Amino acid sequence: MSRRVLTFPDGFLWGVATAAHQNEGNNTRNDFWAWEQIPGHVVDGSTSGLACDWWNRAEEDFDRAAALGLNTLRMSVEWSRVEPQPGVWDSAAFDRYREMLEGLRARGLEPMVTLHHFTNPMWLADRGGWANQDVVPLFERYAAKVVETLGDLCQMWCTINEPSIYAALAYVLGKWPPGESSLLKFIRVTRNQVKAHAAAYQAIHQRRPRAQVGIVKHMAAFDPADPDSFTDRWVAAIRDTLLNWHFMDAVMEGKLKFPFGVGVGRHAPAINSNDFIGLNYYGRHLLRFVPSSPGTLFAGEAQVPPEIAWPEPWTDREIYPAGLHHFLMRLATYGKSLYVTENGMADATDEIRPGFLLTHLAALHRAIRQGVDVRGYYYWTLVDNYEWVEGWTTRFGLIGLDPATQERTPRRSAELYAAIARANAITEEMVEKYAPQVMDQVFT
Ligand code: FCB
Repeated sequence: MSRRVLTFPDGFLWGVATAAHQNEGNNTRNDFWAWEQIPGHVVDGSTSGLACDWWNRAEEDFDRAAALGLNTLRMSVEWSRVEPQPGVWDSAAFDRYREMLEGLRARGLEPMVTLHHFTNPMWLADRGGWANQDVVPLFERYAAKVVETLGDLCQMWCTINEPSIYAALAYVLGKWPPGESSLLKFIRVTRNQVKAHAAAYQAIHQRRPRAQVGIVKHMAAFDPADPDSFTDRWVAAIRDTLLNWHFMDAVMEGKLKFPFGVGVGRHAPAINSNDFIGLNYYGRHLLRFVPSSPGTLFAGEAQVPPEIAWPEPWTDREIYPAGLHHFLMRLATYGKSLYVTENGMADATDEIRPGFLLTHLAALHRAIRQGVDVRGYYYWTLVDNYEWVEGWTTRFGLIGLDPATQERTPRRSAELYAAIARANAITEEMVEKYAPQVMDQVFT
């Protein structure tokens, strides 16, 4: 019998995703740094400190990414480094970013650069951050400056990473700076994000007409715990609409329909303001109706069976590769090319990750077979990095890191991912070697 293989399209991009604050170290001028210093904010009491020390030695990890046979890397620019005071630009910081982007290109790694990955300069936070509409022209000015300075070295630009996650954690759940719990502010922030995204999209294209610009949207699958229950289905559908689709409709169709699907305005510049869509996908939540919980829109997380649950601390999240296929199929209806800009899991022992990687890539491949234009995949992440308020408790890296010594130890998944990237394919041999238990899920 001939051996089965899933071959990806020629030129498919194989990458890893990273973020400035989580990797660079010593980003002392942003709001998250200030937040980390306050006891109680980060679960293990740790701070980002040197992180992966990328400000000094990103190139060593670029070498590792290139040695894995990857051909792209997603990173972000730290706003507080390049604009430490309003309107004051730090040319040394820009020089360092030039050096990093040149370093990527010299290694055959096509850069993808995110402009906002959760952190804000302190001066912006002090003015009310994303809840203040001034953020729109300020972000536009920052985007313009970055692209004027670095635009010759990068074609693919992401405006804002996971706008809804950021708005929810910082303004509703109060877990990230500024630690607020206000639905009203969530709505205001969301509107400002839509406007800032659209303004940045135009500003980038004015300077670099051929650049590819897109939003990076986190999508989590929300399904009813009991598919026969009308109320479970109702709360799951509300979450899905609110957290997954409202923002997309805003940046594709210019419709501002926050908070509850009611048409409450239009923002014409946002219409069609994406050349591509970046999808970040991590898993599924099963929801049940909880009448006593209006604050969560009457939804409660159902327990996920341990054999398919994520390891601590996200045990309410299910490993669910079919969700990746689902979102790619539905996003395809917007008619833009797609990238999986993040997908990955925290797994210090690397027991589950190889199967996770294979089954998610098989789901992506299925979407491609059905005609969806998926151009690339970025595993989150290359080297263990500082995971926001989870601190150093979670290990997402293909390569392990001891932050105290900066020592790196590749995991088996790095070897597997390298084999896939080099072959531009998944073969039966790979599945047999790294995760035989998922054979039937990969080759259905
Ligand atoms: C995503 C974030 C990224 C990282 C991963 C685990 O939501 O974009 O910074 O935290 O989750």
